[in-house]
Amino acid sequence: MSEHTFSIEFQPIGIRVIYSEPITVLEAARQAGITLRSDCGGKGSCGKCAVQIVEGSSSPLTRNEIIFRKGGMLQQNERLACETILDENAKIYIPSGSLSAAQVLQTEGILKSVDVHSPIRVEFLSMTPPTLAAPKSDLENILEAKPGLYFENDDQALFTLRKISPQIRKQGWKAYAICSQNRILTVCTEEPARLLGLAVDIGSTKIACYLMDLTSGNTLAAKGVPNPQIAYGEDIIARLSYAMQGAEQEERLHSDLIRAINQAAEELVKTIGAQAEEIADFCMVGNTAMHHFFLHLPTRQLATSPFTPAIKKETLISAETIGVKGLPGSRIVVPGPIAGFVGSDHLAFLLASGFGEDGVVRLGIDIGTNTEIALQKGKRIISCSTASGPAFEGAHIRFGMRASRGAIEHVAIDQNGKARCKVIGDGEATGICGSGILDAISEMKRSGILNQRGRLDAENSNVAKDGEGVRFYRLLSASDGQREITLSQKDIDQILLAKGAIRSGIAILMDTLQVAAQEIEEVLIAGAFGSYLNPYHAIQIGMLPSVDLGKIKAVGNAAGAGARLMLLSEEMRQKASALAQRIEHLELNTYPDFELFFANGIRL
Ligand code: FES
Repeated sequence: MSEHTFSIEFQPIGIRVIYSEPITVLEAARQAGITLRSDCGGKGSCGKCAVQIVEGSSSPLTRNEIIFRKGGMLQQNERLACETILDENAKIYIPSGSLSAAQVLQTEGILKSVDVHSPIRVEFLSMTPPTLAAPKSDLENILEAKPGLYFENDDQALFTLRKISPQIRKQGWKAYAICSQNRILTVCTEEPARLLGLAVDIGSTKIACYLMDLTSGNTLAAKGVPNPQIAYGEDIIARLSYAMQGAEQEERLHSDLIRAINQAAEELVKTIGAQAEEIADFCMVGNTAMHHFFLHLPTRQLATSPFTPAIKKETLISAETIGVKGLPGSRIVVPGPIAGFVGSDHLAFLLASGFGEDGVVRLGIDIGTNTEIALQKGKRIISCSTASGPAFEGAHIRFGMRASRGAIEHVAIDQNGKARCKVIGDGEATGICGSGILDAISEMKRSGILNQRGRLDAENSNVAKDGEGVRFYRLLSASDGQREITLSQKDIDQILLAKGAIRSGIAILMDTLQVAAQEIEEVLIAGAFGSYLNPYHAIQIGMLPSVDLGKIKAVGNAAGAGARLMLLSEEMRQKASALAQRIEHLELNTYPDFELFFANGIRL
């Protein structure tokens, strides 16, 4: 009897997973690597896990759902993911408010449609049983069944023959070769149920992994895991310094990365009942340091001027050699970095967001500890990297934190100079994240609490001095029965430095290509922070040029989307190589009047 299976597709993330048992939407999402908000732990009492069933039928409404609908906490077209059971094909739409903050970082991202054209394919082999008159070896038999196919080397052939020789005798001399182009990766007697690929965006903080169906192009599952290298330093410079301590430290940074990728891959394949050893193709992107750590290349030169990468061209390496689990003979496409501080993640972002395909005046910004910026005008694409620091990720800010439960994500200031804060999770605030910081600075400027030079107004009743004489503004006050959360002058200085670094980078690119703000047709902001920031406030504080708000789009993890495109399509790989050639890298420090641009960038 054939097993009952059904698929659930999660939109707008674009993940489809196969299940064989009735399952709640919450559990199905979890198995698919999607973290839905579930503040009550799936007990049906918090109402945070709202989803829409776009297609397919599901279990009847529960008592809790009826109560939430009556109370207006659940829309008429919404269901609680923790109480809704699916047992047949369905399509689920997840509103962004139901995704955990970390999930936005992990899986969102533009993924334009692409003609899937992976080099991985299956060839049916019909062989002739050997006879005394024609005693063909098994190797000859395999290769002659489909002329043109070949093994990369004898090791590969022997590895395959050890397994397949006895099997083909039992299976009537019929087999299937899984090939990359004409190169045989392996031979098996069962036709493979699917061809799997893994696209990875290695970020300094998170590693985003996407398990792809190389035939349909579907994302089968996705997962973001913390980069374990964080134990050796929050930022890239700290990790480069750690690597400089010796070969052992360098090896540790490499092997931790490989282990984390393998672990994530194992968890992803488990969701579809497969094995990591079935993954036939890989694409890895990352910043230049991650690229070097992954390939186990020396990184000392990335820390010293002129910051030259060891290699800039795309590399194709054996998964086995580097220690990544996959089909025997499978290879990993590793697009090359553009410069010392502009990695293949930036290239992937530009590829996924249409740079190089049209003449649109387009600005692309990937905000992180290092912010990469690209500007396209006509045939020219110019990019730079700027050390914006971790202030927008909450680091070096007294009450700073990442965008997660308890973080102030939005701030408005009333006519009395008092802040009104919106907290992620609606509970008590424990800190403030990047979008909240940006709102706060913009609102403090508008209400005159901050002047143009970014100084706090001593006369404002909400501004006070701490024990060291440093001024601070109260966002939340203990006198209102809340945990006191403040922004000090020191915090504000850090933020303005970060904002100044980003704005001066943008201004220098605009100056180089002679682009005025009103000429910009599109501003694409990648990364988790881009999904949260309020473009209006980003313009008000002068972080972004003054463009119509409608031109600004958050594109999520566009680097991950680019990696998936390169995995799925050889044409995309070629486009990426051509794009890499076209991108002109600009070293900001050497630009005339750089200091002036920077000083202007800091001003409010
Ligand atoms: S997880 Fe709380 S209601 Fe579903």
